[in-house]
Amino acid sequence: MEPVPRATGLESLLFALLYSLPEYARGIVVRRPSMTRLLARLGTQAAVQRLCTRLRVRHGGRSVYVRGPRGKVLVLLAQGDVERVLGGSDSVFSLRTQEKWRGFSPLQPDSLLLSRGETRKDRRRFNCAVLGRAPGELALRIDQVMAEELDGVLGRDPGSVDWAGLRSGYNRAILRLVLGDAARDDVRILAAVNALRREGNWLGLRLPRPGRTRRLRTAMTSGIERHLAAATGDGLATGDGLATGDGLATSSGTGSGTSSGTGSLAVGDGGVAAVGDGSLAGLAAVAPRTADTCPAGQVPHWLMALEGIGSTVLGPTLALIAGHPEHYERARSEARATSSDRRHLRACLNESLRLWPLVPTLPRVVTEPTAWHGGTLPAGTDILIPIAVHSRNPQIGYADRFTPQAWLDGRAEADWSIVPFSAGPAHCPGSDLGITVAASALAALLRQYDFRPVGSRLGPCRPLPKAVDPFTLRLSVEPSVL
Ligand code: HEM
Repeated sequence: MEPVPRATGLESLLFALLYSLPEYARGIVVRRPSMTRLLARLGTQAAVQRLCTRLRVRHGGRSVYVRGPRGKVLVLLAQGDVERVLGGSDSVFSLRTQEKWRGFSPLQPDSLLLSRGETRKDRRRFNCAVLGRAPGELALRIDQVMAEELDGVLGRDPGSVDWAGLRSGYNRAILRLVLGDAARDDVRILAAVNALRREGNWLGLRLPRPGRTRRLRTAMTSGIERHLAAATGDGLATGDGLATGDGLATSSGTGSGTSSGTGSLAVGDGGVAAVGDGSLAGLAAVAPRTADTCPAGQVPHWLMALEGIGSTVLGPTLALIAGHPEHYERARSEARATSSDRRHLRACLNESLRLWPLVPTLPRVVTEPTAWHGGTLPAGTDILIPIAVHSRNPQIGYADRFTPQAWLDGRAEADWSIVPFSAGPAHCPGSDLGITVAASALAALLRQYDFRPVGSRLGPCRPLPKAVDPFTLRLSVEPSVL
């Protein structure tokens, strides 16, 4: 038996037309609203699901080589292969594919996502230290900021949810949470982040615009460095275990050093108190780093990920909750309770990410000859993990139903077909923080407003669509009388 079966020419063509092309058109780095709308209408995701089921049946449930415009790609269709690649070493199954570099390097050339070897280990440690502490240490602060920024954000009259208005309130909140209160109105930073994402979206297929990219990156980085320097207290965060490195200390801005929020953070790993107002920048100031870490180079990914939650996750999750009365009641009472236990809201968010993953595809490249089902994958083999296809595999009994319970009873987490945050050594280090921030935003909205579904498309009476357009979702809202 050959180690990897090959898709036929027709199957490869269909895969290119139904998967690769729509993925590209929709936007790999940032969603293009018009294309997202068009593709949701055309139903390409449902067609891809059928195609992958056919490929599985025809090739005995195994992963297959599919031919694409840039050569052949190993598409992981077998759940065991997903587990093997995601659970395996990230230096063998590397995240830094050519495509990822083309897409993400305009925004974040120095980020963990694009790093290799020792630098990757170093930046992973830094990211995990900051993002791992944030959900616990900043929990109250996250709620406070969300409540302030989303107060009255949907107006005082009944109507349809104004997603753009909601996003701008939410974006102010994430600027404060990532960079501190002084960054609240520094919307130019987020504008530069999004413009750089749009540059990356072309994956090098458009003539490069190095001058524009440089200008945008300079604007973004100088803003980020200024706020990081303020959180560091102008270099306070040096000392044992904390090299000064090339990061914050090199910033030219002095920052205002304001701490108008909840006050100073606790003493950090290096035994030095960070000046900060309860932001990731404050935690970054005391996280372990070396000369390779480049803290300012990690922040664009944090802003990108948190912005993505506001633009593409909150809306569909709110619509799902509103469309399922049982979950709506539970979510509402959780939001209005004094306890910070948001188990049910968190499960709703995870389930929404299973249904419509924020990151629908995980690419990998094999860096050295690697044993594979009795054969060898040569170095340079490109791998594609279509996680949006796996998470709707009909073998999952609840594939097309909104089932938050699966996240409460452990079923979803035990299943390798369901990996909205990836898994293994490259598992998203911001998963807990992302869900905490999103749950806080939903709680702030559900405390103030009543939501009602428009139509039954996202309700329990029929299978949920394979794709949803978060930019034009309709949802009724009115101020709550309670
Ligand atoms: C709903 C929210 C989120 C989802 C669905 C998500 C999903 C993912 C996925 C799938 C990956 C792996 C990418 C790959 O393997 O190719 C990843 C990586 C990463 N995420 Fe998230 N993420 C979310 C929120 C966040 C947040 C809020 C942050 C930080 C504030 C964050 C920071 C990162 C970083 C730094 C990496 C790179 C990890 C590495 O290369 O080792 N993410 N995320």
